[in-house]
Amino acid sequence: MSDILVHTEAGVCTITFNRPDKKNSITAAMYGAMADALVAAQEDAAVRCVVIQGSETMFSAGNDIADFLNNPPAGTRSPVFRFLRGIAQFPKPLIAAVCGPAVGVGTTLLFHCDLVYAGDNAAFSMPFVNLGLCPEAASSLLVPQMLGYHRAAEALLLGEPFMAEAALEVGLVNRVLPPTEAAGYAQSVARKMAAKPISSLVETKRLMKKNHTEQVLAVMDEEGASFGRMLREPAAKEAFGAFMERRKPDFSKL
Ligand code: COA
Repeated sequence: MSDILVHTEAGVCTITFNRPDKKNSITAAMYGAMADALVAAQEDAAVRCVVIQGSETMFSAGNDIADFLNNPPAGTRSPVFRFLRGIAQFPKPLIAAVCGPAVGVGTTLLFHCDLVYAGDNAAFSMPFVNLGLCPEAASSLLVPQMLGYHRAAEALLLGEPFMAEAALEVGLVNRVLPPTEAAGYAQSVARKMAAKPISSLVETKRLMKKNHTEQVLAVMDEEGASFGRMLREPAAKEAFGAFMERRKPDFSKL
């Protein structure tokens, strides 16, 4: 069984996190598979729309911490950057169905989606500070833009989860549904989208995004440089060590 499932039907390419035993946390290999799937979906004229989803109880626990420690991302050609740049520049409509926890990149990737449907069990969090890290995926730009500065500071400086209804209120989510219905609803919207002229979809998305993309990519690069440096520093080592040893981190001496 692959940790990332890719299935195309009726003009919709669906990318599914399929690593339930590790809470759909994402390894470098999974980032690579998703980056490749996005390139293939972009090139395949039969694909008009992409859906990203997890299960009814878990979207994604974010980066796989052990894999991240063993294979820290090395530069902008690394799988994680290929994936992040891929979603930031993906020209066709991108829809997410999110149920359960969406941690770290599980939340930040949603800021690059065009439509987001959430189960009422969705819990969004960006706990980078708690891990001795800093925001990624241009979230230091996109979260304040969408949530306003003070709510963004709460989300990014405290790193505490916020639920589906709060995400709906700030505009991160288009609609909240029972978890059993979120993926099906996202598929029905994706199929509706897939029946529309692709040239109009692509041009409309390009026009909406064109003034932001360069800035998003520049912020992503700056965050990536800081994130890569901070991964090797004592705060992240303490936080990741604590996660692996199932204890609370102690930042008091750092
Ligand atoms: N990286 C690697 N492994 C992870 C993981 C991650 N991000 N998140 C969960 N796992 C693994 C656990 O180590 C555990 O593995 P094990 O069964 O071999 O011991 C398994 O997934 C189940 O996780 P557990 O924590 O017991 O599940 P839970 O339901 O109690 O909690 C979460 C789910 C998502 C709330 C919790 O796992 C969590 O907080 N994970 C870390 C998320 C994080 O900080 N991500 C950001 C990385 S930048």
